[in-house]
Amino acid sequence: MTTALCPGSFDPPTNGHVDVIERAIQTFDRVVVAVVDNPSKESLFTTGERVAMLEELFGDEVEVGSFTGLLVDYAGEVGADVVVKGLRTVDDYEYEVQMSQMNRHLTGMETVFMATRSEWSFISSSLVREVAKLGGSIGGLVPGAVEKALQERLA
Ligand code: PNS
Repeated sequence: MTTALCPGSFDPPTNGHVDVIERAIQTFDRVVVAVVDNPSKESLFTTGERVAMLEELFGDEVEVGSFTGLLVDYAGEVGADVVVKGLRTVDDYEYEVQMSQMNRHLTGMETVFMATRSEWSFISSSLVREVAKLGGSIGGLVPGAVEKALQERLA
């Protein structure tokens, strides 16, 4: 059985995240989605709220957890075999490849990259937050439940 770990900030989860997680579900036997809990980084949604949103989106198709500290330590705790990350752009590539090399250096953890579907390649959580804060439409960029949560948070 192969377990994939899909980590991220998910502040908030976007359609790009959903696409990569759904493809991980199709590809691996077990999928754990991990929300990083970084108290030094200001977030729009609490870690608990982000975990709850992901649980609502995927039901029992995945396990959702949160972690502090090193990703590779959490991967060991949940028995993950590979980390799965989405790649949108060249900028993502440079950062993500460095992280994957560090993670392999630390514990031998492998990373599998999935190219984001082209229709989602311009979406990031930070852009979604910015557009929503400035009153723009985020319809079609995030799941409906996330859109509602954003509207309520920013009202
Ligand atoms: O959604 P993001 O912000 O791209 O997710 C980045 C994340 C959470 C995967 C990355 O920051 C991470 O792994 N943080 C945990 C700390 C860690 O292990 N740092 C060393 C990585 S090489």
